[in-house]
Amino acid sequence: MVINTMDDYGGTLSGASVLVIDDEPGMRNFLTKILEPRVKRVDEVGSPKEATLKLDEAHYDLVIVDNLMPGGTGLDWVTEQRRKGFFADTIMITAYADLETAIAALRAGVSDFVLKPFRANQLLNAVARTLDRKYLRRDNALLLREVHAGSARGKLLGASQALTNVRSMLARLAPLPTPVLFTGASGTGKELAARYLHRMSDRAEKPFVAVNCAAIAPDRIASELFGVVEEDDRLKPGLLLLADGGTLFLDEVAQMPDQLQAALLRVLEDKRVRPVGAEREIPLNLRFLFATNADLNDAVAQGHVRADLYHRINIMRIEMPLLRDRSEDIVELAALFMEEFATTLGMPRLDLDEETLLKLCRYDWPGNVRELKNLIERSVILGEFPEEFAGSGAVTGAQAIENLDLVMQRHILHVLDLCDGNRAEAARRLGVSRKTIDRKMAVWMV
Ligand SMILES: Nc1ncnc2c1ncn2[C@@H]1O[C@H](COP(=O)(O)OP(=O)(O)OP(=O)(O)O)[C@@H](O)[C@H]1O
Ligand SMILES: [Mg+2]
Repeated sequence: MVINTMDDYGGTLSGASVLVIDDEPGMRNFLTKILEPRVKRVDEVGSPKEATLKLDEAHYDLVIVDNLMPGGTGLDWVTEQRRKGFFADTIMITAYADLETAIAALRAGVSDFVLKPFRANQLLNAVARTLDRKYLRRDNALLLREVHAGSARGKLLGASQALTNVRSMLARLAPLPTPVLFTGASGTGKELAARYLHRMSDRAEKPFVAVNCAAIAPDRIASELFGVVEEDDRLKPGLLLLADGGTLFLDEVAQMPDQLQAALLRVLEDKRVRPVGAEREIPLNLRFLFATNADLNDAVAQGHVRADLYHRINIMRIEMPLLRDRSEDIVELAALFMEEFATTLGMPRLDLDEETLLKLCRYDWPGNVRELKNLIERSVILGEFPEEFAGSGAVTGAQAIENLDLVMQRHILHVLDLCDGNRAEAARRLGVSRKTIDRKMAVWMV
């Protein structure tokens, strides 16, 4: 795609924060004027020294740096900062580009080069390209995780009073930066509710990253969450940095290993992370959501969870109701899951007749909504509900046709049995040709 009008940059640029480093005030003004209307934030400084201070204060998505400046070259500055822990994408602007500088710049991890003098859209093209690549890298890393986790994106259904209360509480909390703790038994929809909150917040366009605290190996926690500086001084960003600007959902918080508790407390207090091997801490903008199906008070009393962490986590709490306490939602949920599984598995829907629904409503669902969902999936695959839930409702639609085949098979096999396996005799009694029986048997015997 060729980007040639100013307006095309909108999507990629609008959320970005940019630092401009150039010793000439005129050039800084020009850059700021081009960028300001299009990005979220532009800061400008006149020397590498000031730039270093800026990086301690804020996290930038992109740095635009001049090469030749009185206080040292942009290239030296980038190289030095990389060693210290500086990971923003970088565009270098320079009036003198020789091949050597270009190669050294690429080695230092500069993403693009723009030659002075440049026109506004040349620079904007470079900015858009660099940011596009950055967001693609981020989305790719996060999507891969989502695919592996097979995470649900569904609606938070239920017309019961209990769930209506939950939804209105979520709507109230959505626009705030406040952390929220979701409690409730397994399968009640804590993660789904957290995703719903994120979708309603002003962070909806940014990532939602779910981390199961119980599932990360203790020796990998720091690098997984906070990132790690690799041999070539490049950062492999951790999940926190990938989630920057969005929502971090920490699941099973009662099972957090001690090291993680200490590190998380610092992140919650300072809103910064330090990747493993980095000198500098990176400022972060994250909303934290937590979930647990354990009693956190107990976990604190028994010394599994630090009290200071508990107070930071337990500010607003949403308790997800048990499915048996809102059985009026079962019909709606069962219908949704039936539709979902029939579609994704490409199999016929089962009839949710009155008797079946009554039995579903009477059951006490220790595994809550997840158990109901699993039951429906299993039933769709097997073509019938388990005996304890099955009603005697009439079979209709696609199912009836399926069953006709079954009736025919039973009948033919029965007649064959009566004739001691003599196919010619069975064909005569059934009033069909011998060939028909042979053909059917060939299909059934594979
Ligand atoms: N109100 C709801 N509407 C639609 N689907 C729901 C609802 N509640 C839960 N589900 C579905 O039930 C399953 C379990 O939900 P979820 O993973 O959010 O539960 P959880 O409380 O996090 O469970 P656990 O404590 O075991 O992690 C998911 O597939 C989710 O999509
Ligand atoms: Mg969960």
